[in-house]
Amino acid sequence: MPTWLKDAVFYEIYPQSFYDTNGDGIGDLEGIIQKLDYIKELGCNALWINPMYDSPFMDAGYDVRDYKKVAARYGINEDAYRLFDEAHKRGIKVLLDLVPGHTSDEHAWFKASKEPEENEYSSRYVWTNGAFVGVKDHPYMAGMSDRNGAYMLNFFASQPALNYGWLERTESWMSAVDSPEAIATKEAMKDIMRFWLDHGADGFRVDMADSLVKNDDNKKSATAKIWRDVRNMLDQEYPEAALVSEWSNPEQAINGGGFHMDFYLDHWHNGYNTLLRDYETDGEDNSFFLKSGKGDICRFLNDYMPKYKATKKNGYISMFTCNHDTPRPANTLTPEELKIAYAFILTMPGVPFIYYGDEIGMRYMKDIRSKEGGFHRTGSRTPMQWDNSANKGFSTAEAQKLYLAVDSSEDAPNVADQMNDENSLYSTTKSLVALRHMHADLQADADFNVIYAEQEKMPFVYKRGKLILAINPSGLEETISLDEFQGYQPIYTIGKVSLEDTNLTIGSSAFAVFQIK
Ligand code: NOJ
Repeated sequence: MPTWLKDAVFYEIYPQSFYDTNGDGIGDLEGIIQKLDYIKELGCNALWINPMYDSPFMDAGYDVRDYKKVAARYGINEDAYRLFDEAHKRGIKVLLDLVPGHTSDEHAWFKASKEPEENEYSSRYVWTNGAFVGVKDHPYMAGMSDRNGAYMLNFFASQPALNYGWLERTESWMSAVDSPEAIATKEAMKDIMRFWLDHGADGFRVDMADSLVKNDDNKKSATAKIWRDVRNMLDQEYPEAALVSEWSNPEQAINGGGFHMDFYLDHWHNGYNTLLRDYETDGEDNSFFLKSGKGDICRFLNDYMPKYKATKKNGYISMFTCNHDTPRPANTLTPEELKIAYAFILTMPGVPFIYYGDEIGMRYMKDIRSKEGGFHRTGSRTPMQWDNSANKGFSTAEAQKLYLAVDSSEDAPNVADQMNDENSLYSTTKSLVALRHMHADLQADADFNVIYAEQEKMPFVYKRGKLILAINPSGLEETISLDEFQGYQPIYTIGKVSLEDTNLTIGSSAFAVFQIK
């Protein structure tokens, strides 16, 4: 287990929209380098950068054309190597995004695979044995080349599925998981990982990590076996490199696959969604962090606790404010509500992730035109709002040339203003990250225990190691008496909090951390 994860707080960067230094309207790697001091000042000590490889950008770069080449619009490979170097100088680790389940249909492997003549890459992708033979229960394409076969898709039409074999094989054309071609695909992925790790990357966020082996029962055992093999490689060759999975099943990803971290994603009806985005499940919004106070922390705990208990010895569950696929939390939560939500996310066990711009409460831009396969996700991918100058300081290009339009509303939040305001969401986020770095009990490993959590009642009181924390996201002041408070005093508060002996009064939208006197 890489030791640096214990106190890691990640910052996710969508490179297109972070900072443009060459005036072409698109963010670049030099832009990330120039903003490293900003990230350090916020307190984040690790980055996850969305794909920055050569790509036709039909899915914002998740359609990789060349895994070992930086996309020209972001710079050249040397910029990436310099980014690793400059980040390391500031104590910041850098995870790249590994897309192992599919490539772009413009990747050289796929071009070779489409050829009717047998070659090294014929079985690199999942092909059937005839152009009129489909892939049952899965999306596929036929008639796209002279090869007499149909190929399986892993996501959009431009993303053919790489071949890691099938666990349950019902057709003659399905490769076995231990076939030479399935093993060759896995080794090719390991080769890509070594390439970037050797150049200074610190690990990978793994896209659709659960998607590799097809017909891989519900336990995903064969897919997990591949990742276990990758983990063994890391343990032997790169013991400080970290892997975080897009899987949202920590038992499979961490215990099975050996991932160091697994994202707790915004899947319908799961615990994470009940906190911030309950509106996606049934229309009515009962998110716990809404001031209306209709939420119920038990819905989160019932889902989270078994996952946490089952995996805490082996790895970390990663909570995030948002990601590039998810509506920004400011879509429904006010800055006041966001402060309390972030207080929770940043004091939970495991490794937290902040999505660029969430620290200032950037809005989810509803109903904007889709860009690069973003569709509804595009609204969470708009340019970072650095200051109040043209294009909010993101780029010197003409406004029409920007990757996406900046939020032009009068009161659009920006970094410069919020850095100068001690009551801003930025300042609160920064103080929460600093608090986490100050107390080992708030970091990845310390135990998480519930002290008081009652259905539809406030506050929620929990323990991290020896610290006690209380949260009241609702609009009403609450009081509670708990023996556990005996001998404790507040060391950090948001909102109105007072503790007299064992009696806590906690105001509306308030949060506190208590330590033994
Ligand atoms: C998950 C990524 O987060 C998303 O942005 C992408 O479109 C799909 N995987 C396909 O790679």
